[in-house]
Amino acid sequence: MGNVFKAVKVSDHVYWVGAIDWGIRDFHGYTTKRGSTYNAYLILADKVTLVDTVRAPFKDELLSRIASVVDPGNIDYIVSNHAEMDHSGSLSRIIEEIKPEKVFASAMGVKALKEHFGLDGIHPLKSADNLSLGNMQLTFMETRMLHWPDSMFSYLEEDRLLFSQDAFGMHLASAERFDDRIDAAVLDYEAATYYANILMPYSAQVLKLLEDVKKSGLDIRIVAPDHGPVWRSKIDAITESYAQWARQRPTNKAVILYDTMWHSTELMARAIGEGLVAGGARVKIMPMASSHRSDAAYEILDAGAIVAGSPTLNNNVFPTMADVLTYLKGLRPQNLIGAAFGSYGWSGESPRQIGDMLAEMKVNLVAEPLKVKYVPDGDDLNRCVLLGRNVAKRLKEVARHE
Ligand code: FEO
Repeated sequence: MGNVFKAVKVSDHVYWVGAIDWGIRDFHGYTTKRGSTYNAYLILADKVTLVDTVRAPFKDELLSRIASVVDPGNIDYIVSNHAEMDHSGSLSRIIEEIKPEKVFASAMGVKALKEHFGLDGIHPLKSADNLSLGNMQLTFMETRMLHWPDSMFSYLEEDRLLFSQDAFGMHLASAERFDDRIDAAVLDYEAATYYANILMPYSAQVLKLLEDVKKSGLDIRIVAPDHGPVWRSKIDAITESYAQWARQRPTNKAVILYDTMWHSTELMARAIGEGLVAGGARVKIMPMASSHRSDAAYEILDAGAIVAGSPTLNNNVFPTMADVLTYLKGLRPQNLIGAAFGSYGWSGESPRQIGDMLAEMKVNLVAEPLKVKYVPDGDDLNRCVLLGRNVAKRLKEVARHE
């Protein structure tokens, strides 16, 4: 790749040397509409240190950016903060090519890198360990399950810089490297979407981590995640957003997810939406034929209710509804109330099945599943409006008591 790709200076001793993936649109089931970046960082200390690597196809871009500031063969240490392949996919080849003196990871990272790539000889680190880079020092903090069991943070005291791997990241391809160079609305949306789709299941750990970081007394002026921009201007804002998302306090917003065969379940969804609005709730209606599961996760992040509807197809829920509810169940949203509905032709199992799926997600169901045969008439639609009003009423009570 010659000398085409350049490093970007992040702080006195640290350069961004990652890769920009402008084209990626699917990140293990999450639609990444704006692409992504795989961030890696170079510390120009006495011991030249590379923090994380990039997805395998971007190895040469990484090496080219490193070469713009230092000969890659001069790298002494590599620190792997996270073993998932978007950050470690090129690690084996990088080790072969640059032959670093030592490679470091958490104990779980050592195990994961061995099991993924057969890598031996990686040195384990644990929370509060210090690694001398000669004239500088890295301190480590294990962050299990954020996002994998191996994950850890590294802190460079001299630059007051926290390498936070997945945490505080977002999928956003951009030629800009810093938070203050990107539109604030884009930052808010992409950070929330990332949290909802990647970190929501680990919200309890996020709250604990925020507390641990506060207790540690670390003076953090720069947060350098493994995806998206480096935070240097809005660190307080993004940490406060994380605390708010992790608490998942119910709001008066209801999300209606549905699919439909002949527009009957769609009519029901719209009537339920009318009832919710009439009852004072905020509403987002998402037809799953034209909505992506990860956009549903984004909407659920700040919701208090989920109302899900499906027609009955061959005695089962519609495939799109099974898809989104399976995905959301894995993301473990908390503190939701909800209800199920759907039209049917003769057997009509689907609303009950949807209700069971919501119950498995620990959604507190506020009504029996609402079923309508064939096409809803005026009375049926009034029952749908009433269901919406009922959910809105319960939502007010729940939101008030949190
Ligand atoms: Fe960006 Fe969990 O990897």
